[in-house]
Amino acid sequence: MGLQSKHMLGLQHTPAQDILTILDTAGAMKDIIRRDIKKVPTLRGRTVVTLFYENSTRTKTSFDLAGKYLSADTVGLSASSSSVRKGESLIDTARTVEAMGADVLVIRHPAAGAAEIVADNVRCSVINAGDGIHEHPTQALLDMFTIREYKGDFSGLKAAIIGDILHSRVARSNIWGLTKLGAEVSVAGPATLLPPEIEKMGVKVCTRVEEALAGADVVNVLRIQLERQKQALFPSLREYSRLYGINRERLGLAKEDAIVMHPGPLNRGVEIVKEVADSARSVINEQVTNGVAVRMALLYLLTGGEAVETAD
Ligand code: CP
Repeated sequence: MGLQSKHMLGLQHTPAQDILTILDTAGAMKDIIRRDIKKVPTLRGRTVVTLFYENSTRTKTSFDLAGKYLSADTVGLSASSSSVRKGESLIDTARTVEAMGADVLVIRHPAAGAAEIVADNVRCSVINAGDGIHEHPTQALLDMFTIREYKGDFSGLKAAIIGDILHSRVARSNIWGLTKLGAEVSVAGPATLLPPEIEKMGVKVCTRVEEALAGADVVNVLRIQLERQKQALFPSLREYSRLYGINRERLGLAKEDAIVMHPGPLNRGVEIVKEVADSARSVINEQVTNGVAVRMALLYLLTGGEAVETAD
């Protein structure tokens, strides 16, 4: 069985069973990327176009590689070098790319809801690669895949999400996904970086980072998104690091075997110290690898592939 929707726009409305199907299928895809020859013919004849209106290293490159490993034809379009600079609208751009034969459109855009608008105006599958501060579902899926690799089940798992929650589409998608599968999620950061009514998403809200870290199985540290801040929301980066930065002492409050995650890119020395980011408890590089596997799984499933069970 495949997925309920032909699009992946966010985890808020994705059924738990579909999330598990994607994670199971990603397990099989990870076997492929561990091989010397990382190539299978599964998506031969299919076309994947990435359409990015914001910068990206991990998401864009991993979608490109995911498509190539599955033998799809992949094309990348960035807003800065396209006819978007001549004023072409988002919908016209998406329809133009679809008219050239795209089967899957992967879109990143600064406006919340952009991927959904595109999905409503094209016939091909659309994947949201990050829309404003709304959702970044493939990041949350790769985070969940990584958590499951290290921790097994989500039920009763304690996950702490630390930092700039207000501007974080990664946090929102993680909260929807993790709570749906039974994890207990705490969020912590300066009050100015906590969205109003965030508790309505089913999380525990802490203004002291130590409270969220106590007994955590997973510590997910977010990047301070200065580019989205229109005014100063904390006194200085040094002050932020002193009060909210994840260092060895603070990590000591989490469980002894807690893993440390970060979606990247890192502001080393601000939200996380180098010693923790590069420690044995950090799974940041594994997250990046898993991003390719999860995106392969999504491309496969959204183009009609059958779910694959992971052999445990
Ligand atoms: N985590 C993430 O979305 O990184 P990029 O901006 O590099 O894609």
